[in-house]
Parts: sequence; structure tokens; C-alpha cells
Amino acid sequence: MSKDKVKKLYEQKLSILRKHDKKYYDESKPVISDLDYDLLKKEVLSLEQKHKYLKSSDSPSNIVGYTPSKNFKKFSHKVPMLSLGNAFSEQDLVNFEKKITNYLSIKNDFEIQYSAEPKIDGISASLIYKNGIFYKGLSRGDGKEGEDITNNLATIKDIPKRILSKDFPKEIDIRGEVFINNSDFKNLNEKFANPRNAASGSLRQKNSEETKKIPLKFIAYTFGYEKGLMVNNQSDFLKKLKEWGFKTNPLNRSISLIKNLIKNYQEIEKKRATIDFDIDGIVYKVNDFAIQKRLGNIANSPRWAIAHKFSSNKAVSKILDIEIQIGRTGALTPVAKIKPINIGGVVVSNATLHNEDEINRKDIRIGDEVVIERAGDVIPHILSVDKKKRSKNSKKFIFPKHCPSCGSETIKEFNNVTKKVDAVRRCSSEGYYCDKISIEKLKHFVSKEAFNIDGFGKKIVENFWKLKLIKHPQDIFNLDFLKIENLDGWGKLSVQNLKYSIDQKKNISLERFIYSLGIRHIGLENAKLLSKHFVSFSKFKNLSKQVEYEDMLNIDGIGETQINSIKSFFSNEANKKILNELEKVLSIKDAVQNLDNGLLNNKTFLVTGKLNGISRAEVKSLIEEHSGKTISSVSKKLDFLIIGEKPTKKKVDYAKELKIRVIEQAEFLKMLNKTS
Ligand code: IVH
Repeated sequence: MSKDKVKKLYEQKLSILRKHDKKYYDESKPVISDLDYDLLKKEVLSLEQKHKYLKSSDSPSNIVGYTPSKNFKKFSHKVPMLSLGNAFSEQDLVNFEKKITNYLSIKNDFEIQYSAEPKIDGISASLIYKNGIFYKGLSRGDGKEGEDITNNLATIKDIPKRILSKDFPKEIDIRGEVFINNSDFKNLNEKFANPRNAASGSLRQKNSEETKKIPLKFIAYTFGYEKGLMVNNQSDFLKKLKEWGFKTNPLNRSISLIKNLIKNYQEIEKKRATIDFDIDGIVYKVNDFAIQKRLGNIANSPRWAIAHKFSSNKAVSKILDIEIQIGRTGALTPVAKIKPINIGGVVVSNATLHNEDEINRKDIRIGDEVVIERAGDVIPHILSVDKKKRSKNSKKFIFPKHCPSCGSETIKEFNNVTKKVDAVRRCSSEGYYCDKISIEKLKHFVSKEAFNIDGFGKKIVENFWKLKLIKHPQDIFNLDFLKIENLDGWGKLSVQNLKYSIDQKKNISLERFIYSLGIRHIGLENAKLLSKHFVSFSKFKNLSKQVEYEDMLNIDGIGETQINSIKSFFSNEANKKILNELEKVLSIKDAVQNLDNGLLNNKTFLVTGKLNGISRAEVKSLIEEHSGKTISSVSKKLDFLIIGEKPTKKKVDYAKELKIRVIEQAEFLKMLNKTS
């Protein structure tokens, strides 16, 4: 058969397969038997195997199951569904606890009580109850907005539909994990790769009669918003959940001291294989709700909880090649292409080598036999090299001195703050000059935490880039839709959807906008700080004067490194042009100022000396929560200087000279109607 004919046959079969997927997953009306479906899938896969040039991005080998259509209504979570930071070692736990004690400004020997809960590897869901009735159920979605999957959740037996207990809150959003037992998964006659996918797929069936057939389970562990919850800590909350009729994890424990957390972790890790559902670690939550509240969140995860992931899996394989990837900040990341190997159920064929220094330190070479470790969802990495097995001809790996994409020189920068040479080598070109950097910048621009354009993923960025449809961010908003409509795999409807998703995102917050620009060292948290500082896009865009840069040093969290990076961003004409062009097509919302009616409205504060029982970071959060501001030096702009133990005399004297009010901690807390 000619190449063209094979291609045509393959595309035909693939398209039939996708039609059946749609019938099965979207419409829940399969028209062929499971066996026929499997045979069809096998045919597609074997064509791919025989003819390597085939493989479409739509191939069943790439796609697990089927991405269901977006026919669920979306709703905002009243309280965002956060994710958790990870800990892999005892040291990570020590650091986690240290951060907490520092933030709370409590002594290291204070015993923090934790709720230690096995982390179920399923799909989280939010169940809203009003007056004891299960009223609405949402998926996590992006954490801010979830899908209304009430009908599907209602099929789960573990989810109480009506709760009569007197102390059940008037309104509450109960959260927990939907999953399938491993034993049930084995008996499922479905096409899912693992229990987690099966839970996710069946939760997103359009027809809840189909969901009903899957033995989904639900374990509750937390809540979002509530009205009338009379509980002060997590372990009591877990007890209440049980009383109210929810399933909770029998392996939940209340524990203090890191050595005991480790003991419990080891015990549960040993039991792991005997538990009938997948767990991938232990979640530790500070037990006391009042302390949780004080600790608050950082970016997308709480300061008061962490996931202690189970130890990794290791395997021996061989390095076939070393590839250099270029990131959006120009960083050259070496990646080892290894002989594919199954590590703990996942086939691994890439391992990160981190950077040039790491390759030199471990003397990693192409052809080496290496031990590879895969821990949690992090990218596998190389633990050690077996130098004895090395052939005589093996050569040291020379890191490229020129960018493999644009040919610019690669450089290692000297970091003025740390006074050290960077471990990372970078392409020295200016952003959009280098093709690889451009593509990565665009991927970042449309990513989840940035513009989050529905259906505009990494693959589409790459495709559109190749077709010269996009080069700069503004091109996304000036796409030639007619041209796209005629492309393979696109049609009127999909183009309409794309246009709709893009149009929807033309309204954007300043915070997200700044983050989307992908300025080095400006992640989510810093973008937030900058947006609060500048308030409007025009103030940010016209940033140019030295004083304006220096002023940024007053933002707690922004330092010289970030400022230098912003300076370098604005010194690049291409970036300025991008800002101008984006301004034409977008509506960038001013940052929402903290409530103007807070108790500390328009007042500025500075702390000097050590406070008692409260850290600087917490004072700052408290001030901001009440619409006040903190600044970093004594000046006429300052309203209150808060003094603790051993204050800096110079600051106090200068404040007095400027007739600024100098207050003690107690007086400050009184201003907030707090006494301790
Ligand atoms: S608490 C901010 N408790 O882990 C608190 N999460 O990475 C976050 N998970 O999306 C949720 N078991 O799907 C919590 N006992 C447990 C959990 C748990 C599993 C999942 C959940 C969440 C993810 C956080």
C-alpha cells in the first residue's frame, strides 16, 4: 500500500474511533460492543507501530480515554480549592515546621499538633449542603472555578443526600476525594489506564446513569466555606464528619513532633500495598483552626499543610542521548534520553540532568549506566552513575557554548545578590529573537495560571507557531480564524469555540497579566505584589524612572534580583512593543485594593525590634487585611512605628523627630480590636 493510502486508512480508522469515544463518553450511548471497540483501537495502534510516520496527536497512545466535551456548567468556588506543597524528606518537614514557628513567632519547642491523613490519589470534589440537603457538587477545576457535576456525585452512595444532625452547619461546602477501590477497578470492563483516570472519567460522564454503574467511593477530609460550624480543630472536624454520615479515612491520626510523623509515615508506607485504594503520601495539617487562619496561604497552597510523598522508586537504565531544552527564560536544561524503563508502573524515558554543573559534578556521559529515581509527580532524575561499566571510548559531555536554537552565545550569569556564578547556562539572546524561547514564552502566556485560554494548550502553540500564525503574545488576539478553519483537524465549530475562549480572556486582572509576561523571577506571588503596588496597567507600563524602581524595594518580598529582572524586561524594545500591542486588544483590570473601609485604611506602618508571639510576616498580613500598608523605612510617609524588643534606636529617634506616632505591640493590636 502506498504511503498516502496507509495515511488515509489510518485517519479514517482514527476518526471512527473518536466518533465512538464521543458516543460512549459524551452521549453515553455506545453503538458498538466493547470488544469491537478494542479491536478498532488495536488496529489503529498496530498501524502506528508498522508505519512510524503516522501517529497523530489524537492517537489513542497519547490520549487516555477521551476528553469529554465541556458541557458541564461552571461555578466559582466560594473558597478556592488549594493544592499542597510537597515534602520528600525529614529535612523538608523540619523546614515546614520551622517556617510555621517563625511565622507564628513561637519557640521551637512548642509542640504543634497535626492531623496526619493518608493522601488519597483520586479526584477532589466539593459538596455544598444547604439546610442539611446536598444541594450542589463541583469538581476542583482550576481551583477557582469547578464544573457542576451534582448529578454524577449524587450517584455515589458514600455521599449523604440529607443530614439531619442538629449540629450540622446551616451551610457548608464539604470536600473530599472521589476514588475507586483497586479491587473494583480490576473488575471494571472499561478502558481506563488506572483507578484515578477511571474515577475522573466516570465523574465527567454526561449521563449519570453511566456514572452510577461505576462503584465510586467518597472520603471526606476538609471544608471550604461554612455557616454555623461549631468545631475548632481538624481532628474534631473529622470526628464530626463521621457523625454526620460521611466516610473518613480510618488511618487518620492526630500527631505531634516530627519524629512521630515519620514513624506514622513509615508504618503507613508499609501498609500501602494492603490498602484497597491508591495513596501517594500523608497530608499533615496543623490541627488548630485558629492557627490555620493565622498562617493563611502562600500562592496556591496553605502554609499550614503539606503532603509528605511516599519514597520514590528507583531503576537502572542507560543514557541514550543528552538533549538540551531551552526554557522561556533562556535556561538550557539538559535532559537525558534513557532506554525506556518501567519505574513503579510508569514508563520513564526522560530524566532531568538539572544543569551544566550537575553534569560536571556527576560526570554524566552519553552511554552511561545510571540509577534513575522517580518520586511523586516530579520529573525523574539521575541518582548515580556506574563508572565501572563505562566503555573506554566514552567522552566527557561538553555543554553547548552556543544556543542550539538561535546560535547566540550561551552564558553563565554572575548573581550580584548571591555573589556567585549561576549554575544554569542561558541563551544570551533577547527573548523573542530566539525561536525556542518565543515558543516557551507563548506557552507560558496561555498557561493555566496566566491567560488560561480554554483549548489553547501547548500543542496548539507549537502548531500555530510552526504555521507562523503566532510569534508574539498579541498575535493570539489577532488570529486569522479563516485560515485556521481550513487547517487539518479544525472546523467551523472548533474555530468558533477557540474564538470564544480567546475573547473571554480579553478581560484580565493586572496580577495575571503581569504573571503572563513571564518576566524572570516574577512568579504568581510576586506578580500579585507588583499588581497591588502599581494598581493600574498604565502605571506599570510607564515604569521607567530610577525612583520608581527604587520604590519597589518597599514592597516586602521584592528584592534587587526581581527589580533587576524587571529593569531588563523594560530595557528590551520588543517587550515594550508587546505591552503596547496588548494594551490595544485587552482590558486589564486595576488591582483590587484591599477594602477601603478597613480599620487601618490609608495608614502606613513599620515594625522595628522583635515582637512577642507574632512574626513580621503576620503583622504585615494583618495590616493589609485591614486596608493598611507597610513600608520599609522611616519617612514622612509613615504613620505608625511599631516597636518591639530591642528596636533600632536610629529609627525610633528619626520617627520622633518627624513626629510620627511610636506605638507598642499591644497598642497596635488594640487598633485591630485584638488583645493578645
Ligand atoms: S486537604 C489545602 N486532605 O490532595 C488543603 N487533600 O494536593 C488541600 N488529597 O486536591 C486539601 N487526601 O485532591 C486534603 N486528606 C486530604 C487529602 C487531600 C487527598 C488531595 C486532594 C487535593 C490534593 C492536594
